[in-house]
Amino acid sequence: MIGKNWILAALLASQSHPRLLRPLFRLKSGPYRYDKQQWEDEFSAGGWDFLTSPLERHRNTLLAGCVDQYAPDGLVLEIGCGTGALQSSLLRNGHRAYLGIDISEAALARAKKNTDGRSTFLAAPAETFEPPGSYDAIVFAETLYYLADPAAQLVRYSRYLNPDGHLFVSMALTGLRDGFWKLSIWQDLRSHFKTANEIDLFFPGSSTCPAAVAWTLKVLKPKNG
Ligand SMILES: C[S@@+](CC[C@H](N)C(=O)[O-])C[C@H]1O[C@@H](n2cnc3c(N)ncnc32)[C@H](O)[C@@H]1O
Repeated sequence: MIGKNWILAALLASQSHPRLLRPLFRLKSGPYRYDKQQWEDEFSAGGWDFLTSPLERHRNTLLAGCVDQYAPDGLVLEIGCGTGALQSSLLRNGHRAYLGIDISEAALARAKKNTDGRSTFLAAPAETFEPPGSYDAIVFAETLYYLADPAAQLVRYSRYLNPDGHLFVSMALTGLRDGFWKLSIWQDLRSHFKTANEIDLFFPGSSTCPAAVAWTLKVLKPKNG
């Protein structure tokens, strides 16, 4: 019997051999079918409270460090900011301005509790939101795979990058079907973006947090940028 840890580790490792495995990752739609009401219900019921767990905080600290490296004191736009975990990490490091949007007002109500003069949170669907400016960092942390056409959305948002700006995309692999969908997205993104940096983490699970997670963060630049 092959355990889930091994499946996730194998999926994560398979990204290093995209040419061999490319034909496998061709999904056109994923397992996620969320509408706004479902996000509201789940955030209100505490279904996403784990986003502030120690493991998720480590993920956001790493992401914030990466944003700092590529966009020191930069203007940051986060799509699908949830309860504001990344903004909290960025605040500690001192960013010039941060705009976070999310479809869920219940999530934003919690994010706004930790706001400051440099941060703004807006309720808006990612698919139709028109950013009011241009940015040094545009972040999709565990959000891109909920959108109908992830690659098209990332291309659209890349038009709002400053000339030296970068996109930051993170996706956690949590199972086989989920993993194939996310690897299909990475595959599509390869046509439009070059990878400036990549960090892969594998968490095998522990007694306090039994679910294994394989997590990838990529820093991307448009190929024509
Ligand atoms: C898994 S949570 C991640 C939240 C946050 N980025 C983090 O890492 O803690 C996904 C977030 O994407 C938001 N989201 C999903 N679909 C969206 C859409 N179409 N437009 C805007 N936000 C969306 C959800 O409300 C939720 O807050």
